[in-house]
Formats: sequence, C-alpha cells, structure tokens
Amino acid sequence: MCGIVGYIGKRDVAPLLLEGLQRLEYRGYDSAGVVITGPKAAGLKMVKAKGRVRDLEAKVPARFKGTTGIAHTRWATHGAPSDENAHPHMSGDNKVAVVHNGIIDNADDLRAKLTADGVEFLSETDTEVLVHLVARSQADTLEEKVREALRLIEGTYGIAVLHADFSDRIVVARNGSPVVLGIGEKEMFVASDVAALVSHTRQVVTLDDGEMATIKADDFRTYTTSGTRTTANPTTVEWEAESYDMGGHDTYMHKEISEQPDAVDRVLRGRIDDRFSTVHLGGLNLDAREARTIRRIKILGCGTSYHAGLIGAGLIEELARIPADAEPASEFRYRNPVVDPDTLYIAVSQSGETYDVLAAVQELKRKGARVLGVVNVVGSAIARETDGGVYVHAGPEVCVVSTKCFTNTVTAFALLALHLGRIRDLSVADGKRVIEGLRRLPGQIQEILKQEDEIKKLAKRYADAKSMMFIGRVRGYPVALEASLKLKEISYIHAEAYPASELKHGPLALIEPSLPTVAIIPDDDLLEKNRAALEEIKARSGQILAVAHQEQEKADHTIVVPKNEPELDSILMGIPLQIFAYHTALALGRDIDKPRNLAKSVTVE
Ligand code: F6R
Repeated sequence: MCGIVGYIGKRDVAPLLLEGLQRLEYRGYDSAGVVITGPKAAGLKMVKAKGRVRDLEAKVPARFKGTTGIAHTRWATHGAPSDENAHPHMSGDNKVAVVHNGIIDNADDLRAKLTADGVEFLSETDTEVLVHLVARSQADTLEEKVREALRLIEGTYGIAVLHADFSDRIVVARNGSPVVLGIGEKEMFVASDVAALVSHTRQVVTLDDGEMATIKADDFRTYTTSGTRTTANPTTVEWEAESYDMGGHDTYMHKEISEQPDAVDRVLRGRIDDRFSTVHLGGLNLDAREARTIRRIKILGCGTSYHAGLIGAGLIEELARIPADAEPASEFRYRNPVVDPDTLYIAVSQSGETYDVLAAVQELKRKGARVLGVVNVVGSAIARETDGGVYVHAGPEVCVVSTKCFTNTVTAFALLALHLGRIRDLSVADGKRVIEGLRRLPGQIQEILKQEDEIKKLAKRYADAKSMMFIGRVRGYPVALEASLKLKEISYIHAEAYPASELKHGPLALIEPSLPTVAIIPDDDLLEKNRAALEEIKARSGQILAVAHQEQEKADHTIVVPKNEPELDSILMGIPLQIFAYHTALALGRDIDKPRNLAKSVTVE
C-alpha cells in the first residue's frame, strides 16, 4: 500500500526522503515522488516517477536542495500508475503539495464542482481534489486551510501537506490510514510506518483517527480536526533499525522464516508461570472472574491472520473448552452480525492497521462488545482501539507475505488458550504438558529449518504443477489453508485447500497425476482417517507430498516434522510449507518479497 515519509530540519532533505521511501518499498507500490522546500529554496520543487524508488532517484537533479520535504510511494487506486498520477500532487500555482494514503470517497463530486469552477486537474487521482481544496482556502493559517479542506472530504486519509508560504512546517492528518511522527534533535520526521523512521529516531507519536499535527524543526503539536489541542504521548519503538535489513539473506521472506526460533522464543519470554502451570498475559485486561463469564469467543482477521485465528479458535476450544470460531473480518463487518454481550471478540492483525479488521473492531465497540487484539505492531490502530490483548512480538515483518508473524500469532493464541484453560477446567498436569510443549517449539523449528535443502529439492520437483490441492483434518485444515495461500501468493500456482474429510464430496473429481496434493498428517487420533484419504488420492494416481510425524507409505514424498503435544502440532506443521512455497517461487523466478498485486498492509477497503 502507499507510503508517506516527510522531514523538516537542517539536513539535506532529498537523500533522507529517498532512503525513507526505500524503507517503505516492502509495502508494495507502483510509482514514487518527492517534493522539497527550505529557507534557501525558491518555492516547491517536485520530482515524480512511475516505477521503483531507484527510478525516482535517477530523475532527481543534482541541485535538488532543501531542508523540508514530503515523499510518497503510490499504490494505484484512482488512475493507472504513471508519472502524473504519482504523489505528491501540487496546486496550479505550485504552492501546495499533498501526499495521501487512503481513498477519498466523494472525490468525483468534488472534482466535478472544482472543474466547474475552472480548476484544471493534472491527474486522475482522488488526492488531487484535496490539493485544490487546500489551495483555494482563504484561511490565514496552513492548519486552518487543511482543516477546511478535510471538512469537505469523505473517506480515509493519512496526509502530509507542504505549502510554499508556510515552509517552516508540515501539516499532517489521519483518518483511517496510519501517520506516525518521529521526534529527532532539532528535526522532525513523519511517516506512515515506523520502518521509514527508525534509522533516525525511535521516539514516536502515533496519531489517532481524527487527529492532526503540525511539525516544525524543533517543535510539534497535535490537535483534533476541529482544532482542539490533544496530548501527544511519545513512545519508544522497540524494533532496531537493523531488524529492517536483509541480514545476509537473499530475501526478507527467507530471513523471516529463519528468524522463527528466536521469534517464538520472544512471544514466550517472561510469560510462563511454572508455579501455577499457566501464563501471564499482562495487557489482557481481563480478570479471572470476567474470563469465567465468557460464553463464546469470536476471532476476526484477514488472510493469514484469519488462518491463525482458525488455529487459535481450535486451541481455545481444546484447552479452555469455550466455543470459539474465526471469521474473515472483511465479511463479518458487512453482515450486520448479532453482537452478543457474553461473547469475547478477538481481532487478529500483524500490522494492526488492516482496514477491514479495524472497521470490524470499531463496529463491535460501537455496539458495546469487549474486543481484544492479537497484534504484532505495538501502538498500531487495532492495538489502540481494542480493550486489551496480546502482542505477538515477532519483530518487524518486511516481506509482503507473512511467515514469522503467523507462527508467533498462533503461538500467542496457544498462550491465551492455556491462560483461559487454567482459569477454567484445564488441569495442572495438562497445563504443565502444554508449557513443556511450548518450550520445545523454538528447538523443533530449528530442526525443521535444517531440512531446507531437502524441501528445496521437493519444491523444484513440484514447481511445474499448474495447480495443487492442500488437505488436512481438524487441526490440520487451517494449516492446509495457510500453506495453500502461501504457495499461491508467491509462486502464482493455483492452490486449493480442503478438509480431507470433504474430498469425496466434490474435490476428488480434480485428482489426477498432474494435480499434486499436499497432505497435513499429524500423528493424532485422526491418523487412520487421514491415511484413508491418501488411499483415495492414490487410487486416482494423484501425487502426494505429506507433512507428517513419520514417513507415509502412500505418499510419494514425506516431510517429517518433530512431534510436539497434539494441540501444538499445527504451529510446527506449517513451517516446512513456508519453505516449500519459498523455494517453489524461487524456482519459478518470482519476486518473492513483493508478489504482484499484493501489498503488505491493506489500509483501504
Ligand atoms: C498473506 C498475508 C495477508 C495478511 C492480511 C492481513 O501472507 O500476509 O493475508 O495476513 O492482509 O494483514 P494483517 O495481519 O496485517 O492484518
């Protein structure tokens, strides 16, 4: 999705902005642009380019000097990727420049009115209406000009505005799209994602929806869109700048897959209470008495986070015996759901900014529900909107497709399920057993990572498949869903996931030698049933790659994973299939970290 970065201070601004844009590249984009000014710069100077940040860099002239500027990476929504449609957008008199993330819903109406008033539009974007609205405002201050413009627009935005007549400041605003201020020494930064800031400062202020800010080199203030001052509480970003580097790996995905032993160790750290065979989850804000009154749990997330939620629901039912299910947040928010006072809602999001999840949380809160978050990014919108929750502590995930965040989210759900279970009916002995299982996870993930070479060979073997089937039963089914998503996202091979029990109700018709099946077969009480599914596939000459705790006779190949406690096996069984998807995509020459048409955090509808 689009990215914003801005700076005001004493340093040469263009290289800082370009570096910031590079740090936002992982979010996915199709064009980029930068506008600068400064005490010695006459007016605003702008450069834009379709393509990558390096294409923009190549277009920046040598004498492109200034000390204040805003920049953007654009993900096309209104109008094709082009130099004209790239942000920033500038007013006809070259005085106002705006970068914008989000979507202005009433852009067409505003454009028609402005055009009728004689305004000439240079792009097809929704953002350009905002520029003209700011430029036409008769207000005395930049803050008031922006406020007046925002009053006229409907939709979502994270914006940064630069004005040649007010070059000592940048005005920013947020409604549904993240804006973070970075506080430096006599310099200030702004960005849509801390990734663009952390190499300069880790002191940040995250704006709330409906909040604006004015940043100057040595000062900043925050206020609402109606002008009331708000209190800004700076926080320290815990992630180091180095965590955003590739660290010797060829891709972020590879790096993030291999970080999983440490990441899982982090989600467990400081939380296990051996004395009572339970875990402490500091930010849950749910005491034992309240936890006992929960009648149902509903988990909401999108994509991979939804899949993690499905595993989470299974863990909660198994360990805490509370009825639980998961649903895509994107569907939930549109079906006027019955919001039950005895249901605990849990929003799952790696980024904490996914619009569909945030909108579902806001709808639930409006209806008086209690909503917890299972989130990776500390201080993100969903983390702040929810009543409490569990941070998954995976560290920054840069690759567009999620790997370590998925594993950590599922592990966080295991902690939550254990916590709720021990408040309810889970015995001390079972609590202890699960804790021992959790402690074994990092070492077992390490063992799986050691099989990379063999998995790579398998990936090469299956890479010419046009389509693949993924099957699993009960605990294995969400693993199959996630593995199939991983494969299709980065390799572009069509993949379907089905409960193994459903094969004979339809999808078996697809099985033939050219459609391989990946089967998740834990050594649990459904092992024999799963083996029967393999028989059915073999009888139709289908090829089978099994992920199992022991070699599967009916499978053509088996990836053997270490066995943990049955409830925790799903955490491990997805990992070899992340490696499998990775090497399949590599064999096919795909752009693994930035798969086509996808963005890292989907902050628009
Ligand atoms: C897939 C993937 C996406 C995200 C989804 C939700 O690999 O990463 O499916 O899981 O867009 O994002 P978050 O978790 O940030 O809410």
